[in-house]
Amino acid sequence: MLKMFNLAKMLIIFMYLTSICCFFISSQNVSSPQDILYTYEEPIDGLKLHDTHTLSKGTLMIWMTFDDDKDPSCMLPYFYLRLIERTGRITYINLNYTFPPEAVCPISMDFIPLNYNYIMVIYVKSNNGVKGKYGLIINYESEIINEIYLGNVNDYIIDSGRLEKGFIRIEEHDKKGATLHWLSIPDITTGKVVEHGSSEFIVPNQLSYTFVNSFNFNLIDGGIGYAYILKYDEMGSLATNDPNIQYWKIYVSFLREGTYLPTTPSLVYQTTTKLNSVVFNSCTYNNGVGYICIVSLNNTITNRNESRTEVNYYRLDFLTTGAFIQFDMIPKEISMDVFDFSSLIYGGFLVRKYYTNTTAMDFSILDNNGNYKSGGSFGPEFVHTNMFSRNGTLLGIKKQIGNKLEILLKPLLRLNNQGAEYDNPVIESTKPAIHEFIDSSINEITIKYAIPVRLSTANISIFQLNGDPYKPNLLRQTISGNSKLCTVGSDNHTVHIPIFRSSFNQPNASYHVIIDNNFVISQERNEPLLGINEETWMFSTSNIYIFF
Ligand SMILES: *[C@@H]1O[C@H](CO)[C@@H](O)[C@H](O)[C@H]1NC(C)=O
Ligand SMILES: *[C@@H]1O[C@H](CO)[C@@H](O)[C@H](O)[C@H]1NC(C)=O
Ligand SMILES: *[C@@H]1O[C@H](CO)[C@@H](O)[C@H](O)[C@H]1NC(C)=O
Ligand SMILES: *[C@@H]1O[C@H](CO)[C@@H](O)[C@H](O)[C@H]1NC(C)=O
Ligand SMILES: *[C@@H]1O[C@H](CO)[C@@H](O)[C@H](O)[C@H]1NC(C)=O
Ligand SMILES: *[C@@H]1O[C@H](CO)[C@@H](O)[C@H](O)[C@H]1NC(C)=O
Ligand SMILES: *[C@@H]1O[C@H](CO)[C@@H](O)[C@H](O)[C@H]1NC(C)=O
Ligand SMILES: *[C@@H]1O[C@H](CO)[C@@H](O)[C@H](O)[C@H]1NC(C)=O
Ligand SMILES: *[C@@H]1O[C@H](CO)[C@@H](O)[C@H](O)[C@H]1NC(C)=O
Repeated sequence: MLKMFNLAKMLIIFMYLTSICCFFISSQNVSSPQDILYTYEEPIDGLKLHDTHTLSKGTLMIWMTFDDDKDPSCMLPYFYLRLIERTGRITYINLNYTFPPEAVCPISMDFIPLNYNYIMVIYVKSNNGVKGKYGLIINYESEIINEIYLGNVNDYIIDSGRLEKGFIRIEEHDKKGATLHWLSIPDITTGKVVEHGSSEFIVPNQLSYTFVNSFNFNLIDGGIGYAYILKYDEMGSLATNDPNIQYWKIYVSFLREGTYLPTTPSLVYQTTTKLNSVVFNSCTYNNGVGYICIVSLNNTITNRNESRTEVNYYRLDFLTTGAFIQFDMIPKEISMDVFDFSSLIYGGFLVRKYYTNTTAMDFSILDNNGNYKSGGSFGPEFVHTNMFSRNGTLLGIKKQIGNKLEILLKPLLRLNNQGAEYDNPVIESTKPAIHEFIDSSINEITIKYAIPVRLSTANISIFQLNGDPYKPNLLRQTISGNSKLCTVGSDNHTVHIPIFRSSFNQPNASYHVIIDNNFVISQERNEPLLGINEETWMFSTSNIYIFF
């Protein structure tokens, strides 16, 4: 704990982000909501917490398994998932399916949420002696919809960043790059998944450089970012004493959803230092300012006849165009032990620290200049931690006792608490407001942003809620930001969306508006901004019969 308090005195080593940072700073009203502790009670005896996933709409998915008494690296071949929604409603998925031994011993199974109420369990299975990756598509009612072959065991499956856009299979090629396969969402009746297309990330072919490694990350507007690390090949060259040789180069390239051609790789970092290695640890979206990647550099420093090796961590920031912003060392106080550094949607950064001899986790919040603002910890009684990144809430689960799991939610300090009701700090207000009763004849809805915006390519959609969690809501209208129909007002902050005549024609009905990420971009940097998740911006048409 003492280490954490030292952070408060930490020198400001972060570069001051002059024009970059700052729509968050303006309203410094710091809120400190309360921690929430609740208990989940598992109805099936013997099931143990295995892992959790969080969804941006606030659902906690708890994966429960039966231990294999004979081998702790294995589990019994069944799948149980509990979904705790924001409203507190719990869905129990108990799959009546026995997975093959290859999937459970050792555990070679995972799952990803798909669109609507679909989930795909991803597991390893042998077919005629050849191990492959398979996907079992199931729904919230524990029904099996389809089983699909996903590819080689070494390929990996990730969501596309947007559940309603399907998922991606990545096939890595040694020293050459990777092929991405864009797979559709399951067909609503047959569960069939089709490949929309594939794309290739090809390592730039640079004379005297060899490809060392790559790292991929989700883009908020759907799609994948790809970072390549290239190293100067000393063997093939005579000019090794040239002090101007760039020994290491990092490029980034982006593959946006709906396009199959990655952007031309941009050089974001290069160094003349003969480092031992360059490794990417993580890349996260920095709200309205591009991406932040954490990169570690391993260097051997030789002083006369002494040499020592040190590893330093840096944050590499770039825009979604690939334009470089900064490369700065992360102070040693932060980077010691196993740590994780991520950008927070409500401003500033979260540093999480993990230890090898305990499950405890310490965390701290830093402002945009790297100054310590607050912190806390999950003690050793917590065996699992995770985060709802959209609303900045950490989650810890205590050691299971019998069938009970105690879950603690710790809301993180928000440097800016604007737009909390929309789960989006760049949204100031909307018309209609949340929970307003509207006249079904309104001809537009508006969104007022906290910063000047421009329209972009993603959609805004209005759904009529049907109140049945097992049925999709009814789409009433969808418009893309760049369809001439949407406009930005003269203040540059307010977006006007026309309403089709039929959209709200149901009296006494509830609606929600979903805004996709990248519906608008910031005017200052042309960076995609976050949208609004489902069941957040909700309102109803009034019951006309009351008035007439
Ligand atoms: C902060 O909140 C207080 C009370 O809610 C309010 O009076 C004050 O004006 C707010 N300050 C800013 C800068 O928003
Ligand atoms: C964040 O989301 C979780 C999950 O929906 C919810 O339980 C929690 O109360 C939210 N926290 C805040 C501060 O809104
Ligand atoms: C599980 O599936 C098998 C065969 O598919 C069926 O015979 C059995 O009744 C099912 N069990 C339950 C509890 O649904
Ligand atoms: C740094 O590189 C050296 C030389 O390649 C290696 O021996 C050492 O294990 C590396 N250190 C870390 C922490 O990766
Ligand atoms: C270099 O090594 C020699 C012998 O090992 C030692 O006497 C000398 O002090 C060392 N020099 C430095 C600068 O460490
Ligand atoms: C974990 O190890 C560190 C030293 O590496 C020690 O200071 C600390 O007390 C240990 N914690 C526990 C819970 O054993
Ligand atoms: C917007 O919606 C239309 C119609 O549903 C769809 O075809 C299109 O792919 C969507 N655009 C994006 C960027 O999601
Ligand atoms: C809105 O943006 C345009 C284009 O950047 C600019 O010319 C205009 O002055 C801005 N209007 C306001 C009210 O800031
Ligand atoms: C309006 O909708 C609510 C909820 O669906 C329902 O309970 C109520 O009876 C409806 N009122 C009328 C007058 O239809």
